[in-house]
Amino acid sequence: MDPSFRPAEIPRVEDCAARALHRCDALAALTEEEGAITRRFATPALREAGGLVAEWMAAAGMTVHRDAIGNVIGRVGGAEPRTLLIGSHLDTVRNAGRYDGILGVLVAIECVALLREGGNELPYAVEVLAFADEEGVRYGTAYLGSSVVAGCFDRASLERRDADGVKMVDAIRAFDGEPEALALARRDPADLIGYYEVHIEQGPVLEDEDVPLGVVSAIAGQTRVTVTFSGLAGHAGTVPMNLRRDALCAAAEWIATVEATARERPGLVATIGELSVQPGASNVIPSEATLSLDVRHADDGERERARDELRRRAEAIAAGRGLGLEWDLVQETSAVACSPDLIDRLGEAILAGGHQIIRLPSGAGHDAAVISTIAPVAMLFVRCLAGISHNPAESVTLADVAAAISASVRFLGTLG
Ligand code: HGY
Ligand code: MN
Ligand code: MN
Repeated sequence: MDPSFRPAEIPRVEDCAARALHRCDALAALTEEEGAITRRFATPALREAGGLVAEWMAAAGMTVHRDAIGNVIGRVGGAEPRTLLIGSHLDTVRNAGRYDGILGVLVAIECVALLREGGNELPYAVEVLAFADEEGVRYGTAYLGSSVVAGCFDRASLERRDADGVKMVDAIRAFDGEPEALALARRDPADLIGYYEVHIEQGPVLEDEDVPLGVVSAIAGQTRVTVTFSGLAGHAGTVPMNLRRDALCAAAEWIATVEATARERPGLVATIGELSVQPGASNVIPSEATLSLDVRHADDGERERARDELRRRAEAIAAGRGLGLEWDLVQETSAVACSPDLIDRLGEAILAGGHQIIRLPSGAGHDAAVISTIAPVAMLFVRCLAGISHNPAESVTLADVAAAISASVRFLGTLG
């Protein structure tokens, strides 16, 4: 740790930003994989990260608790009836960057600390939420943390097993969560002023425009499917090519059509991020290939048409090769528009900081998409180097994080 760093007194926004970045580095060290940042839902690494964040929330004057799924929640403002939720996620993808999600939680804590140290009492309560799972890496279903807060957690997910065969319900218990109490952790929409999330842009627009901050107009919808081609294992040396039922070749043919379909439809993105092959031996014709499909578009109709077209293509390829096909729709989230009123206020706050207002949609999913079912939402994007994310090269600047904290504190001052 930098000996000159004085975490005790933080009188200026730049110091708050420096502390937030310093804490991003501290959290980056809490990982499941040596030499990489990987922090999945309900793992010891996530528990440690939650413990650190709970300490920082308490140091900023918040009362802290963990809810039934392991979200870490800090609250200031006592029994005020109206509450503003601010948050983001603590979990990461595999070999992640150190700012995706985490920066939003830490900027929220700095806003509370700054307001408190400046003696500014807000006319409402603030709750900072550090969600336990947004990426969905461990169980395939995203937004486990925010779906509990929004009251839309799908209890069927509790039966899902991770790569080690551990059921979600058991992982929650081992994480000191309470699977039986998940429904009780829902927030009452009547109490909520709104939800605000600060997040790195994860795209190149702000850097291209040379602007530090952006106002998110909408969040793209997404479809997650597990697709399994099943054929017949056979000897790599004895089965002629025309007699094979090769699951991996079928998957490869389909993957090529997934890319071609996405390339020819404007605004559509489709990704095959996971692939597993059984039995997985160099001299055995693959009997099974299981893939993850992620399809997104700002328009739900376009996304659904693409999803259905890709399913038809998979069925045709499987049938043509005499293979079986399983199409398991894991999760779908609709596109979400951010609150016009909150967007205007956020824009004013950015302008007051001397920055230009850029409005842009988010191709990435965010907890705000789920919380929008119980509260109006606003998101602030922070410029990130070359738009790189879901990659250890993720990077932000101190000045941009300071601008985000300033704009956020001003935005909070307009509410209530
Ligand atoms: O996948 C996403 O868009 C986000 O990173 N969870
Ligand atoms: Mn992410
Ligand atoms: Mn994220």
